[in-house]
Amino acid sequence: MSARETVFTYAAPSLKFGAGASAEIGHDLAQLLAAPPRRVLLVTDPGVAATGHPARIAQQVTEATGAEVVVFDRARVEPTDASMAEAIDFGRAEGPFDAVVAVGGGSAIDTAKAVDLLLTNPGELMDYVNAPVGGGRAPAHPLLPLVAVPTTTGTGAESTTICVLDVLSLEVKTGISHARLRPSLAVVDPDLTLSQPAMVTASAGMDILCHALESYTARWFGENAAKKPEQRVPYNGSNPISDVWCEKALSLLAGAFRGAVTAARSGEDPESARGVREQMAMAATFAGLGFGNAGVHVPHACAYPIAGRAREFRAEDYPAYEGGDGPLVPHGMAVSLTAPEAFRLTFDASPTRHLRAAQLLDPHGAVAAEEGPDLLPAVVATLMRDIGIPNGLSAVGFGEGDVDGLVEGAWAQQRLLATAPRDITTEDLAVVFRGSLEHW
Ligand SMILES: NC(=O)c1ccc[n+]([C@@H]2O[C@H](COP(=O)([O-])OP(=O)(O)OC[C@H]3O[C@@H](n4cnc5c(N)ncnc54)[C@H](O)[C@@H]3O)[C@@H](O)[C@H]2O)c1
Ligand SMILES: [Fe+2]
Repeated sequence: MSARETVFTYAAPSLKFGAGASAEIGHDLAQLLAAPPRRVLLVTDPGVAATGHPARIAQQVTEATGAEVVVFDRARVEPTDASMAEAIDFGRAEGPFDAVVAVGGGSAIDTAKAVDLLLTNPGELMDYVNAPVGGGRAPAHPLLPLVAVPTTTGTGAESTTICVLDVLSLEVKTGISHARLRPSLAVVDPDLTLSQPAMVTASAGMDILCHALESYTARWFGENAAKKPEQRVPYNGSNPISDVWCEKALSLLAGAFRGAVTAARSGEDPESARGVREQMAMAATFAGLGFGNAGVHVPHACAYPIAGRAREFRAEDYPAYEGGDGPLVPHGMAVSLTAPEAFRLTFDASPTRHLRAAQLLDPHGAVAAEEGPDLLPAVVATLMRDIGIPNGLSAVGFGEGDVDGLVEGAWAQQRLLATAPRDITTEDLAVVFRGSLEHW
């Protein structure tokens, strides 16, 4: 038997958290930038631009630093290779820049990471995309300082080393993953999330939940084969430090998730939801700090083909593309759709962790189910139903006949499947997809 890993690593950006933090970005940038004249690229998307926060932040940065701020406000929601190429072309044409600021959800933050990568390193986007889809090249040069300002409570992209994109010609979602992509500073201002629409709150919140659950149940770092330092990737598997972040994220979700979605859906004064919004922002940050060092597994691997192969479904509260009715199963929704079945599959690998996670999510035992493999799936599915996530893959347009194609797409995500707490076969994936056609 090969030697086991004895070392794990932990990395995170500098972090500023709290109401009003986004008003201080000018001050923070002044510390990161060289002497004037300074030019800053601000990346956002049309929906977030409409909230007025990006324009306000741009103005405050100019006032504090004297920098010229150039705004790119066309980041695509759920970015594609084509949309990122457009943003990169814009950055190259308008540059040079001294820093990049991303204001938005994972879509704007990931777009900013891609632009920053190609403003500082030669070649094209596909050179850096994970192999075998792309060239798997590592950036040779450091990126410009990136300040990431999330406006959703979801991805944790402000803390991670990943940039996710949909490669249209291959119908596959994949990414770029390298330590240089991690933002220099994450500014989490819960006030920016007050305007998040209900389905964005629900879907992005399921992303938080799955980040925490998948990292918490990931293969223990010490069960992996020993690596040389140059072979180590940011994802260690579950470990004592990411466990702390994940457990806390699950407790925060237990207290705030349903309330945040209900408040967004009821149309009540967003101010009244400030408490639960702040807890959701903290949960997203904590889960990001956890999964960014542990890794995610089966639900995320399955989400990529679900999002990439969707034919007709388009989630409410998300913008339309491709002439108005393009399909869109948003990331968090796509991840959640197989989560109950995935955790039934992985239960035997670490029963204590699956039961503990269920208890953290449902501390008062509101979900009456048998103990054992069915408990965590029941807790997750009940939450999905309560917050308005569609009832399984059939509700977003997939049927029995799609299972083989979905298995093929998930099987391509070997990096993620390797993080699962047990070895995963194509038969396992077929069981997960088939069992996820309907949850209740
Ligand atoms: N890099 C990572 O670590 C990582 C991790 C998970 C997911 N992702 C990626 O992130 C993307 C999803 O990001 P997301 O879930 O944060 O959502 P998003 O960025 O796609 O935004 C969703 C929608 O909400 C709107 N919106 C965002 N904030 C708003 C606000 N405060 N008020 C009003 N409208 C608002 C946007 O305009 C958009 O229409 C996917 O592409 C996914 O693959 C990246
Ligand atoms: Fe995710």
